[in-house]
Amino acid sequence: MKISVVGTGYVGLVGAVGLAEQGHDVVCVDIDADKVAMINDGRSPIHEAGLDELLQRNIGTSLTATTDLDSAVRSTELSLIAVGTPFDGEQIDLKYIREVSRQIGEVLKSKDDYHVVVVKSTVVPGTTDNVVKPILEEASGKRAGVDFGVGMNPEFLREGVAVDDFMNPDRIVLGGIDARTQDALARVYAAFTDTDVIKTGNSTAELIKYTANSLLATMISFSNEIANLSTAIGGVDVVDVMQGVHSDKRLMPFDENGQRIKPGFVSYLESGCGFGGSCFPKDVKALISHGESLGEKMDLLKAVIEINELQPYKVIELLQKHFKSLRGLRVSVLGLAFKPGTDDMRESPAIKIVNALIDAGSTVSAFDPVARSEAEKLFDAGSITYGDTIDDVIADADALLILTRWELFSELPAMLAKSDTQPLVIDARRMLDSDAAQRYDGIGYPN
Ligand code: UGA
Repeated sequence: MKISVVGTGYVGLVGAVGLAEQGHDVVCVDIDADKVAMINDGRSPIHEAGLDELLQRNIGTSLTATTDLDSAVRSTELSLIAVGTPFDGEQIDLKYIREVSRQIGEVLKSKDDYHVVVVKSTVVPGTTDNVVKPILEEASGKRAGVDFGVGMNPEFLREGVAVDDFMNPDRIVLGGIDARTQDALARVYAAFTDTDVIKTGNSTAELIKYTANSLLATMISFSNEIANLSTAIGGVDVVDVMQGVHSDKRLMPFDENGQRIKPGFVSYLESGCGFGGSCFPKDVKALISHGESLGEKMDLLKAVIEINELQPYKVIELLQKHFKSLRGLRVSVLGLAFKPGTDDMRESPAIKIVNALIDAGSTVSAFDPVARSEAEKLFDAGSITYGDTIDDVIADADALLILTRWELFSELPAMLAKSDTQPLVIDARRMLDSDAAQRYDGIGYPN
């Protein structure tokens, strides 16, 4: 099938490369000529495991990139819109979605063949039917459902494993105004024969995406509320509490050999210093404000955000419990990225924690295996120092804070065992055993 993908960000590029790998003829469109040149050169503008390899295998044959939207839409049967939806802290801004819809509509004006336009960006329910469709109709002078189709096809990729998630989807949601649109979208994903396919209306498709992320975010805030309560009760460790909860066979069933299966879902029911990234905070807030605009109170999701915004400061409270003053305290941060496997620091809890430490007059050093250059953009030069290894930052520390669950940090107990100094370890991800350090504390650890 001939497919154009407008927008070569993380969603657009991974999708375009994945669809080319599936045998479709794909043309990527972006207004950024440098990005287009890089893609045509076989170099990915974003870092995702496996992406360069797939890009190089397909570029110039089943995949090309261009700045020319007109020719890309004209030469294809279906266009996926994957442009950004910037967030102002409350709502998503649809300016790029509107602009691309208008441009595609203008091409459709003089395109004789039936064309399908599909929104792939995450947009609040109603956007495809009430914003994109009317713009397409107005710009083309044609009628949706007659001359062209309008669909919505959310993506469920996780950063860091996006290519793998695309090539092995757990579900494919095909939203459309009519069966013809849904059938065209079904042809896009025809190669994924073993996957659950959900055919639905556009608003449902849009809400599925937000609901999926909101559920996971709710699990995290729920676990963090219980962690804070465990500490307040005293003598209760949230890790034990959650182990008891996870052992419900509806959460962790047994396989045919009687062994427990731990579904990925369960790891969102572990306590920590909060969620971050480019999706959860933005999506939950956007859904709240959309619900409010429709007269719904959205109390549960508001609490999810409120708990998450305060959770990083629990780490500061733990430090204050152990040290009279944070002024002059030498604090080393282990992990800056919002999750392991990425250098992304967007909305990372580490940002609030490091800033609070700087404000309190602590001396902060940090180590993250990949996020240092992102951190350097966020924190004033000279306000913190960076180590190239864990060793670099533990030597002179009064306290070590584990903020990202990097596998590498499981080496910390062995390193501390050899060390002359014994800093306090605050395990904000509860990834180490409590006897991992002589002085140990953590989120949800008994008081
Ligand atoms: C999330 C969703 O998981 C994807 O399904 C969705 O497609 C994506 O948002 C999106 O909307 O684009 P992502 O933000 O890349 O993906 O990251 P996750 O791996 O889900 O992590 C999000 C937060 O959950 C992080 O703060 C992380 O620390 C936390 N998390 C992650 C857990 O608490 N447990 C885990 O097992 C994984």
